[in-house]
Amino acid sequence: MLGVTELLLTSKAPARLPTDAIVVAVVDDSGTPRLLAADQLPAATRTGVQRAIEVLGVTGKAGEVHRIPAGDDVEASLLVLTGLGALGADEGVGLEALRRAAGAAVRALAGTGHVTLALPADDAEHVGAIAEGALLGAYSPGDHRRSANDAGAAVAVLELVSSTARSRAAKTAVERARVLAAAVHGTRDLVNASPNELFPESFAVIARTETKGTKVKVTVLDDAALRAGGYGGLIGVGQGSVRPPRLVKLVYSPLRAKKHYALVGKGITFDSGGLSIKPAKSMETMKSDMAGAAAVLHTVLAAAALELPIKITGWLALAENMPSGSAQRPSDVITIRGGKTVEVLNTDAEGRLVLADALVAAGEEKPDVIIDIATLTGAQMVALGNQVSAVMGSDAVREDVLAAAGLAGEQFWPMPLPEELRASMNTPMADIANMGERYGGMLVAGLFLQEFVGDTPWAHLDIAGPAFNGGDPRHYVPKGGTGVGVRTLLTLLEAATRG
Ligand code: BES
Ligand code: MN
Ligand code: ZN
Repeated sequence: MLGVTELLLTSKAPARLPTDAIVVAVVDDSGTPRLLAADQLPAATRTGVQRAIEVLGVTGKAGEVHRIPAGDDVEASLLVLTGLGALGADEGVGLEALRRAAGAAVRALAGTGHVTLALPADDAEHVGAIAEGALLGAYSPGDHRRSANDAGAAVAVLELVSSTARSRAAKTAVERARVLAAAVHGTRDLVNASPNELFPESFAVIARTETKGTKVKVTVLDDAALRAGGYGGLIGVGQGSVRPPRLVKLVYSPLRAKKHYALVGKGITFDSGGLSIKPAKSMETMKSDMAGAAAVLHTVLAAAALELPIKITGWLALAENMPSGSAQRPSDVITIRGGKTVEVLNTDAEGRLVLADALVAAGEEKPDVIIDIATLTGAQMVALGNQVSAVMGSDAVREDVLAAAGLAGEQFWPMPLPEELRASMNTPMADIANMGERYGGMLVAGLFLQEFVGDTPWAHLDIAGPAFNGGDPRHYVPKGGTGVGVRTLLTLLEAATRG
């Protein structure tokens, strides 16, 4: 990130604010686009917007962003019209529509110094959504280009206009949005980091550095400790790389905690496939195979920053999957922590091996719930595409995850764990093989993980497609790492402190 965007909350009229651009919402009112809210703007400015809507053919559809000269009645030189789409059945403005509209506008304004958001923000919930979408859209990845210029920089200051600006609820909503956006940005940064710089040991160092001065305690198991502890999955996957594996344990344990959630993240810092090597095309995005671990690290940090009254243990299963003379071979038999044996039929099905170790370790502490998050299978993308993640596991936890995702504005869809597929992983050589039936590959992977969970309520999140945006940016989602999962996990933890 090239500097953090500042977010201010104000009840002042936008016209007089010393700002470069004012963002207003256009709603698609059954085919008739019109300016929504923004009553605080001078009448002449509002008339100007309405004229621009007619002349420019603005539709108010979601994703549409238009810039027009602001005229003489406001300090800003630019007005930005962002499409909200249609209103809900109750004529209300949906929170996700608001996040996206704010995000699209702010992303389009990259490089601008001061941006004022005059969007419908009548209550704390809407204020929170605007703040969140705007900050998420204000992401700019740091890069190594020698000619990196300011055009790529995020908006420096965002000023959010709301009549509720002085209320405690609005301030709390903005504070939450700040923490949440910082966590998503931190996750995106890790996912975007190049794999020659981000490897298990350096990831563990980052985890240590980021937790300094917070209430999160870190323990790092190095390769010697992993060998001694019987973590055969991490050792097996990591042994082909000159950069050895790590298991990072994060503990946030506030005094008032009523529940204990364990979060487990797949952290393959690069997945070449190992000896079962991937074709070049499939390897291009495999620096993102640690997105689950990155999401876990930043979710734990965010929960601690918000001082949520819940104990959280985070597990980052870190390894680099490389082919070499010391790499594990297809048909090797390894022993996962706790004693179960696995025949490694395909070294490219490595995520489930490192997760198995981490799930067993997490389960040893008898948490109330275990959630794992992983870029686990190509089959997830075949089934649900690049924008919808899958959730499998115990009925109650799966439903909790779906509810949290809905509130957070992330798309998750429930998937089954059909018992019949378990037999496809049978092998005479070990307790289980690391691959089975090709059809339903995402479910097979989920069934594999289930073997290492025991009776703790558990959910498995497969984010293979959504973790990395290889296409064009959209609303608040940039190219590259998306930070998916963080908002759902944090919302789930918040719900757990209430339920
Ligand atoms: N990291 C990949 C899954 C993946 C693929 C994530 C594409 C994001 C985009 C995982 O380790 C993998 O290679 N899975 C194999 C499993 C197979 C060999 C059983 C797959 O899905 O092809
Ligand atoms: Mn793989
Ligand atoms: Zn992988």
